[in-house]
Amino acid sequence: MGISTEETQIIKDILAHVEQGTTDMQPELMRNPVSTYTDPDVLAKEMDTLFRKFPIIMGHSEQLPEPASYFTNDELGVPLLITRNNDGVVKAFMNVCRHRGARLTDGACGKVKTFSCPYHKWTYDLNGALRGLPHAAGFGDIDKGDLGLIELPAFERFGLIWVRPSASEDEIDIDAWLAPMAEQLGGLGLESHTVFKAWSLDRKMNWHLALEGFQESYHFCGAHEHTACSAYLDNQSSWVDKYPHVRHSVPLPTIEELKGKAPEDWQHRPYFMTQNYLFPCNYVQVMTDHVYIHTIIPTGVDTCIFKCMMLIPEAPQSDKAERYWEKNYQVIRTVFGEDFEIGENIQKGLNTGANTEFLFGRYETGLQLGTKAIHDALDGRLTA
Ligand code: FES
Ligand SMILES: [Fe+2]
Repeated sequence: MGISTEETQIIKDILAHVEQGTTDMQPELMRNPVSTYTDPDVLAKEMDTLFRKFPIIMGHSEQLPEPASYFTNDELGVPLLITRNNDGVVKAFMNVCRHRGARLTDGACGKVKTFSCPYHKWTYDLNGALRGLPHAAGFGDIDKGDLGLIELPAFERFGLIWVRPSASEDEIDIDAWLAPMAEQLGGLGLESHTVFKAWSLDRKMNWHLALEGFQESYHFCGAHEHTACSAYLDNQSSWVDKYPHVRHSVPLPTIEELKGKAPEDWQHRPYFMTQNYLFPCNYVQVMTDHVYIHTIIPTGVDTCIFKCMMLIPEAPQSDKAERYWEKNYQVIRTVFGEDFEIGENIQKGLNTGANTEFLFGRYETGLQLGTKAIHDALDGRLTA
């Protein structure tokens, strides 16, 4: 099967860079104020905008394996109850009872026919409708239709579950939103992958510091000198601006073997790690044979959650396969650990006044593109 026109072009660009000793460059240096990482007012605006008005990846389809499955999540600061209804459609609600606000379900995940509030037993179905309340006479002629759970826009696309964690009237056209990435995401077949590991880390760093680690490859031979450095070409990456998303392709050294082959015989995936930024805080990081999904969520001006899933094409069928994936998992945890250690140490120095701005170099293309898109959203020029 041939590769896409875009992937052919990415390979051509990289081979040209290898030939000429160049890399993708932005026209200008960019300066980013350090207050981005320290100012509580900036964070408050980011929470209200980036983390309320845009779709965020909350899981993989496998986490809702059948109708009546559910899972809960509080990491965004909004208690979420995410379900698959009897028609198989993914729904998201605030995990908050409409009577007097009790947390509707405390389970992490499971399967239920209805959700029954632990406080006074108001009961809701999988579509969030209020089905029953004990001693209803005490509530006069209230309209049960007005007292369903507060529903949030939820979508299942490319094997991933996306939620917009606010209930405003504004609609999201998720297909239009993901359209710039659809060809690539569609080709991954993530819906038939399985979650090998899922983990969430609390890190002592502003969320941007975690985000920025995936937007350039300039740091690989510094931060990852003994790990990822030798696995990729040094600082020779390609970026495709898929506003507000970004496709960041990091070539493996073996790509040079394509030089002598005709483009119609090229393969793409064995030669790249692709770090796809999906605005505002999601990554789909495509390795040669598996995929990581990251979601980065602020929990304070100097703390964040790094949430990750490792997706593999099929559940390991042998001890050998299990060991292979486990080894990959251990490597990625080590590499991410190197990034986080640097990020947490940056955070420690932010309030020293040593820097009033950070420099995003011309190689650090993903940083520049991602930061511009974030500013567009905060200034009202970008909506989902
Ligand atoms: S708070 Fe849920 S039934 Fe009263
Ligand atoms: Fe890194």
